[in-house]
Amino acid sequence: MRRKLVVGNWKMHGSRPANAELLAALLAARPLMGPGGDVAVCVPFVYLGETAAQLAAGDIRWGAQDVSPHAQGAYTGEISAAMLQECGCRYAIVGHSERRAYHAESDELVAAKAQAALGRGITPIVCVGETLQQRDAGETESVVKRQLSAVIHTLAHCAAEMVVAYEPVWAIGTGRTATPEQAQAVHAVLRAQLQAATGHAERMCILYGGSVKADNAAALFAMPDIDGGLIGGASLKAADFIAICRAAG
Ligand code: 13P
Repeated sequence: MRRKLVVGNWKMHGSRPANAELLAALLAARPLMGPGGDVAVCVPFVYLGETAAQLAAGDIRWGAQDVSPHAQGAYTGEISAAMLQECGCRYAIVGHSERRAYHAESDELVAAKAQAALGRGITPIVCVGETLQQRDAGETESVVKRQLSAVIHTLAHCAAEMVVAYEPVWAIGTGRTATPEQAQAVHAVLRAQLQAATGHAERMCILYGGSVKADNAAALFAMPDIDGGLIGGASLKAADFIAICRAAG
């Protein structure tokens, strides 16, 4: 039986007072979220230290939203996996569609980032997903398989250690979520691909992301291959995020 996982992706939101208030509310509600699921927040780099300090005593994990593929060196502005490890990060999101789109991240770069994270014991949350144009052209399956296959190839025998997040680009921040059936269909494709590559897909975690809200989370999480969610906007409001976590617990 796989555990559910709900991860908040704060993106470029937050401030010290707002973060402290949000995290305090999540910590207070954590016992109500149910023992069947894990909860994490992926925060902007600069808040990792404070987030770690505030969450250290509780049962909420934390992580980053990106990681450098390089171990160290002259890479101005980059943050290494070793630095994230020092901050106690459990997760690093890699290949989010916003980074693929705005920073031209290739499948190979995403794979190198996933490998760098794993090398420091940080679980990469590898995002895949098609645009609306690709969906309308019937390319959903080929796009997500291509994105995932680059990571599988690079991680090789460690591939079963990653978390995969299916985030259809057309559902992110639009209020237009995939139906549970649409999401499940893609999750099943991804799990079959992971099974062929690792032989351990039954224990791997595949999250859904894209306009997950308190009122649609339970139906999504009830699908057999949806193991939780990667939550954007709704992770910034304590009541909404807590409700989503409860739907998973
Ligand atoms: P929204 O939940 O705001 O649609 O964002 C999803 C997402 O991109 C999470 O990584």
